[in-house]
Amino acid sequence: MAVERTLSIIKPDATRRNLTGKINACLEDAGLRIVAQKRILLTRERAEGFYAVHKERPFFDDLCDFMSSGPVVVQVLEGGDAIARNRQVMGATNPEEADEGTIRKRFAENIEANSVHGSDSPENAAFEIAYFFDDGEIVG
Ligand code: CMP
Repeated sequence: MAVERTLSIIKPDATRRNLTGKINACLEDAGLRIVAQKRILLTRERAEGFYAVHKERPFFDDLCDFMSSGPVVVQVLEGGDAIARNRQVMGATNPEEADEGTIRKRFAENIEANSVHGSDSPENAAFEIAYFFDDGEIVG
């Protein structure tokens, strides 16, 4: 089991409801270590850059509005198979399809306001971590 790092975001719907601690407990209980974390307000432009891969999708504009509508907590998670492990603990993108006990099943409001984001591949994890963190800000 390779030790990996992945980028996680606690989204505005969750920070608004003061769920950062509960979500962090889910991540830690799943064996993930939070090795960097900061609470920031994304500008619309920074949200667009982060989600550039989705720019042709019909939900892109709404998604960027939502992601810049309130504070987010960006974090680097470390652990064995961290990318897959985080996606497992997050649950399906659409909370209606998420397994019981997952973060999105427990906390998400809908498919857009789905409480958390997690990188979906090693390549995207590298891009997404570098989008928010310098090497010196990550302490494993
Ligand atoms: P996330 O894992 O951050 O990746 C892209 C985001 O777009 C997704 O979570 C949702 O917040 C949002 N989104 C909104 N509508 C859709 C949709 N129909 N399919 C996928 N993602 C969507």
